[in-house]
Amino acid sequence: MLLSQKGEHISFHTPGHKRAGADITELSYSDNLYAPRGVLARAEEDAAGILGAARSFFLTDGSTAGVFSMIFAVKAAGAKKIAAPVFSHPSVFHACEAMGMEIVSIGQRVRCGIAMQPQKEEIASALKEADALLLTSPDYYGFFAPMAAARELCDGEHKPLLLDGAHGSHLHFCTEYGGKFADMWVDGVHKSLPAMTQGAVVSANGKWAEHLLRGVRTFRTTSPSYPIMASVEYAVKYPRNEAIEEASEAFKRRHGCLKNDDWSKIVVAFGEKSGAAQAALEAQGVFPEFNDGNYLMFYLSPCTKGEELEKLGSLLEKLPRGEVREDAQAGGIPIYREGL
Ligand SMILES: Cc1ncc(COP(=O)(O)O)c(C=O)c1O
Repeated sequence: MLLSQKGEHISFHTPGHKRAGADITELSYSDNLYAPRGVLARAEEDAAGILGAARSFFLTDGSTAGVFSMIFAVKAAGAKKIAAPVFSHPSVFHACEAMGMEIVSIGQRVRCGIAMQPQKEEIASALKEADALLLTSPDYYGFFAPMAAARELCDGEHKPLLLDGAHGSHLHFCTEYGGKFADMWVDGVHKSLPAMTQGAVVSANGKWAEHLLRGVRTFRTTSPSYPIMASVEYAVKYPRNEAIEEASEAFKRRHGCLKNDDWSKIVVAFGEKSGAAQAALEAQGVFPEFNDGNYLMFYLSPCTKGEELEKLGSLLEKLPRGEVREDAQAGGIPIYREGL
């Protein structure tokens, strides 16, 4: 039964705020994410169909829970070592530490403070020493990992390929979508599609679905937020917005932005003037995703409006750009680097 069809709702159930509305719990009609058979099962099946997976699992604890679940799954299948780029997200390191999984580091070159995606040869040599491979694609700066080459390498060695797609869920319409190459992958739906913060999906194909199910049951909350779950379903089903994709690519060419692979990430070099540029933009109500001390990054989604992009463009034209610091350290943005 739809919530809107229900009449009076007197809550003798959690959550403790006791207010009827979307923030409910597992009730007779609202299914149970731990073992879904109703509306949640149907929503997850729809998501799997859209994302090209055998099984997809909703997450209300961010991509972090998906990374933990994928690493649990490969460990459950006997893996002891996982090859991963040195600048992977902290969740990769924390999951490996928690599960006693050894990391075989894949080196990444750093250019002007940006950790470049590893090359096929670097991945190949690390993979020889490991039982599984984990890549991140796209990364925060909008670069794709060499997923087709990684798939080939993993097939050759009969090892699973995991993908941290925390920044790539909007790409599921495209041939470059990382999920097309991986055995298990996480989509950070809340970052690049219209889902509430923490909404994500982790998916698997083949035999990995069973292992991943055990992983999500281990790491997901047993009190998932219904508003977040509803927003995840909405976001995965959200239509492609080719107009904004094209506008973004045209914008990048017009405004001399970094040449990257992902339309949703606009990266502009300001060098030592990045702080002043950020302040000037914010004074006009325009907030970038981050400032790494060299670049400002603007995160788009299918919900970005053309006129917002135009406003950004007209402001950028007036802002002086400085010299990019070529010797900048990688990882200048994510504050969580400090915690590693
Ligand atoms: C590459 C990457 N992976 C994983 C995560 C974790 O995602 P979440 O914050 O949704 O748990 C992030 C978050 O920023 C990320 O950048």
